[in-house]
Parts: sequence; C-alpha cells; structure tokens
Amino acid sequence: MTTRHRHVLGISAFYHDSAAALLRDGEIVAAAQEERFTRRKGDADFPANAAAYCLRAAGIAASDLEYVGFYDKPLLKFERILETYLEVAPRGFASFQLAAPLWLKDKLHLDRQLRDALSYDGEILYAEHHESHAASAFFPSPFEEAAILTMDGVGEWATASFGVGRGSDIVLLKELHWPNSLGLLYSAFTYFTGFKVNSGEYKVMGLAPYGEPKYVDLIYREVIDLREDGSFTLNQKYFNYLSGLTMTNGAFSELFGGPPRVPEGKLTQREMDLARSIQVVCEEVMLRMARTVHRETGLENLCLAGGVALNCVGNGRLLREGPFKRLWIQPAAGDAGGALGVAQLIWHRYCERPRRVTPGRDTMQGALLGPRFSPGEIAAHLGSLRAVYERLERQQLLERVAGLLADEKVVGWFDGRMEFGPRALGARSILGDPRSPRMQAQMNLKIKLREGFRPFAPSVLRERASEYFELVGDSPYMLLVAPLKRERQIAMTEEQRKLWGIDQLNVVRSDIPAVTHIDYSARVQTVDRETNPNYYDLIKEFERQTGCAVVVNTSFNVRGEPIVCTPADAYQCFMRTHIDFLVLGPFLLDKAKQPTWKETEDWRQQFQLD
Ligand SMILES: [Fe+2]
Repeated sequence: MTTRHRHVLGISAFYHDSAAALLRDGEIVAAAQEERFTRRKGDADFPANAAAYCLRAAGIAASDLEYVGFYDKPLLKFERILETYLEVAPRGFASFQLAAPLWLKDKLHLDRQLRDALSYDGEILYAEHHESHAASAFFPSPFEEAAILTMDGVGEWATASFGVGRGSDIVLLKELHWPNSLGLLYSAFTYFTGFKVNSGEYKVMGLAPYGEPKYVDLIYREVIDLREDGSFTLNQKYFNYLSGLTMTNGAFSELFGGPPRVPEGKLTQREMDLARSIQVVCEEVMLRMARTVHRETGLENLCLAGGVALNCVGNGRLLREGPFKRLWIQPAAGDAGGALGVAQLIWHRYCERPRRVTPGRDTMQGALLGPRFSPGEIAAHLGSLRAVYERLERQQLLERVAGLLADEKVVGWFDGRMEFGPRALGARSILGDPRSPRMQAQMNLKIKLREGFRPFAPSVLRERASEYFELVGDSPYMLLVAPLKRERQIAMTEEQRKLWGIDQLNVVRSDIPAVTHIDYSARVQTVDRETNPNYYDLIKEFERQTGCAVVVNTSFNVRGEPIVCTPADAYQCFMRTHIDFLVLGPFLLDKAKQPTWKETEDWRQQFQLD
C-alpha cells in the first residue's frame, strides 16, 4: 500500500525499556514501550510488538515507512565499552568477556537486524543517544526556543549534555563524559540501598524524606568532586561499573558503614539516610547544571530529558529555585523516549521539515499514545473470561465510580489510549480517595503488593491545583513534586515529632493524607479536560460529591509488573489483588460478583512477590 503521507519510525532498544514511536507528516501517531506487550518489565529486546502496534495504529505496512531511526550509535558505544575495558584490563576482562559477544552479535549487526525484524529495506538513520534525548525534550515542547538539558546513566560517551533548541533544530553545546555520570552515581546508591538499578531509583527518591542528609559531606569529600558549573568527577576508587558487574565495591561499603543492603532485606535508618544524602547531592548537581545552562544560553525556557529527569523532586526544585521561568519535561524521559527523539530528529533536521508550535500546548497529546480498545473488543475479552459486568451510560458511570471512590473503594480505571512513559496518567490507573487516612497503607500492601513507605500521587483538576499545591504552571505528566499548601497541612504533635524513620508513615499530615508525603510534598498530576476528558470529568464528579478535586492515582499494575496494556491484563490484575471495582471503557465490574479466579502459574514468583 502506498500513502501520500510521510511516515518515520523511531526505535530505541538493547539497553533498557525498548520502545517504538511513529510520526505521520511530523505528528506523533503512536508510541509505546515493548514491556507493555511482552509483560517483561523494562524489556530491552528489539521492540517488535511496539513497532507492529505503531504501524497498525497508522494503518500502514513497514514498506510504507520513509525512514527508520535508531536512538543511538552502536559503534560509538562499542568504542566506549572497548576502551573502558582496555583501560581497566585485566580487571575488566571478566565482564568484557560476558558483554562482548552480546555486543558483537546484537549491536554491530543492527542494520540487518532492524531490517529483518521490521521487514523493511529502506533507509536507516542513527542519532547520538543524547541528541535523541534532547530532541524528545525540545521538539514536542510548547516552546519556539528553549535551552535543553539531558542527564542519564550513559549513552555512547556522554552522560549529560546541554544545548539550544530553536524552531526546527537543536544544537548541543557541551557534554559531560563517561565515567562521570549523575545517573550512574544515583544508580550506585540505588544498588547499595538494595533496590534494582534502572527501576529502583524511584524508591530511593521516595525513601529519601524518611532519612537525614548525614552522608552528604562524606559524598562530597570522597565520592564526587563537584565544580561550581555542575560538572564533576567521580572518584572511581569506589565504583565497580568499569571493571565488574556490580555498581559499587568494597571501598564504597567501607565508606558507608558496611555491605550493601540485601534486596528485600530489612530497611534500616542507614538506607534512609543514604537515600536522603544522594538525593540532596543529585538536586545540587541538577541546580548547578541548570544555572550554567541558563548563563550560557541566556534563555528563559528549559526542556529536560534523560533518566535523571524522572527525578521529580529535583525537577520541582529546578522549577522553584532554578533560574528558568518555564520548564517542560519529556514524559518518557528515559530511554524509551529516545525512540520519539530520533524520529523527530529525522523529520525536522534530516528532512528539514518545519515545526509548528502552539504556545502553552505541547504535542504529546497527554502521552496517551498507546493502544486503545473499543467497547466491542473489551466485551469480547470479558466474554472469554466469563467476567460479570454491566454497561453504563457515561454520566451514570462517572457518578457510580465517584460514589464508589468516596465510599473508600479502590477502583481500577482503564480508559482510552495507554500512556507512553513510566507514569500512569488516567488511562491505566488505580484510583482511590485521597482523604482516607487508611488508603496509603491499604493500596501499597493489598493492591500494589509493595513496600509500605512508597508514596502515592494525586491527580487534581488543573484549575484547582493551586488550591492544594504550591505549584506554578501545569504538571500534566506527574514529573514535578510540589509542597502542599500550608493551610492544608496538619502540624505534628510533640509525640509524632519524636517518631523516626518509617514510623512516621502513618501520621495524618493533611486533609488529603493518602497523597501527602512525609515532608508535606506531593508528586502532582494536573488534569485538563481537553487532553483527558473522561478522567477529568470523573474527578469533577468526585469533587461534586465530596468537595475534593483530587483523587489518588497509581499505575495499574502490581510491583515488578509492567503497567497493564489490554483489558485481559487489567482483569487479571484486578482479580489478583484487592481492587474492589474495575472500569473498562463503558463497563463496570464488581469484584464480589466475579467467578472464582484460578491461577495457571505461580505469578507471585514471576513478579518476585512474597
Ligand atoms: Fe539515556
């Protein structure tokens, strides 16, 4: 089939969180992460399913594509790995032996592999890793002109970069190079505190407010030599990622009072203090880098991407304290977003196609770029599962669900196109009543099957956000943490003040305790009607019934599992947990009325649950 439209497919793969993104005449038609289809969290394989979905969504075949883009340059990356290993050989030889065959097999034959996997014989273009991040940060942003800052673990050589985006081009001005990496430094502490590298960083950030910044001076003295301009050198004496297969070594353990926490082992005050300390250092680096970028570019808007841009506590501080007036963060800030970035680079830079900017509105469409299911498809799924459901008119459904939430029921909410990026934004979400003091513990332990300390995020009607949070502007992608309004905070008693660490968890801190973190902050999602009409109207109805314009929004999955993609994934997650009701498009399902759920495999083991 030939079309008169021009299509570009972007691919990111083989590191972590593979993804595909498709542009039609420069507009984003579809984007999704491979993990959602394969049900393997952070799946790094070639995104065959995500790419197939993107083509399906556009109604085209691979032969209709004008270009395929890959989000980094495998040869440059191989060079970095090779040089690193040669430098530390023979220490590094063991891990090189493990890594090299993988590289040679998969990454150097990438061209062929991409063609075979896609059945595509057109042109394939490669961008540099940080260029892809930078493109994903700037091109979809609502700015005609902006400074760009990218920060992550590592691409080819770069670990951070900054530059300028203007109209339809971006120029990167400076880079910080491997092995000096803010992402890897944070990941080293993630590893050391017993969480999974590349996905547990969120947990470290969530744990930080329970601790004291006890190790900050030690980190500055021994581990990182941070310069005024935000650039830094890491003392490689403490790290193992050059030569070994772990992040930190014996010297690191000695410095921080003993070996790393065993994953799933007891969380102690040390881990909380370490989390707080590395978070403080990370924020300081981010702030210094942003000040340098501001000074060198003289611009007022800043765009962010790269894994470190998922540090929403740091982002919140950048917005409040940084010199930039406005901030826009790519919702798929990690490597998945690189798929979108490279496609946009091809369209704007390589094809020299102009970029249209609507001030105040980005082109991400609320990041709702994944698969959707029609009522007919959902009904067919439900029929095959013998599920019991009722179909409701829209208004009736919204009233019922708002009423259930107000009644402290937990509701799985599956509606429209799946989100692109790590956050659930009201398409694949689990919802609860933020006013309930029991909700945080209940949702963590009984529904998400995860650590009790993990905070929950609020979704708030956009126009009511300033009544709840100290937030300037919008936060549609839940990537900014903001303090709760002072008048909503409940001061702690003398007794409560004496609590330490995790014991502080159950103190009611505001009139929306389920989404108030222990430092009176919240990771806010502002919801507007134009991008997400059903979700907006649901919160509006909840407000009509209760006076509260906020709901708890957590991603629709259990710990260790990717966010649900299909109605069948959603039903399965609903039946395995204590979610009380499930909404699938126009259908409402009551847990109490469902047939008994039979497990076909040991799913708890699959997701490493207790
Ligand atoms: Fe990256």
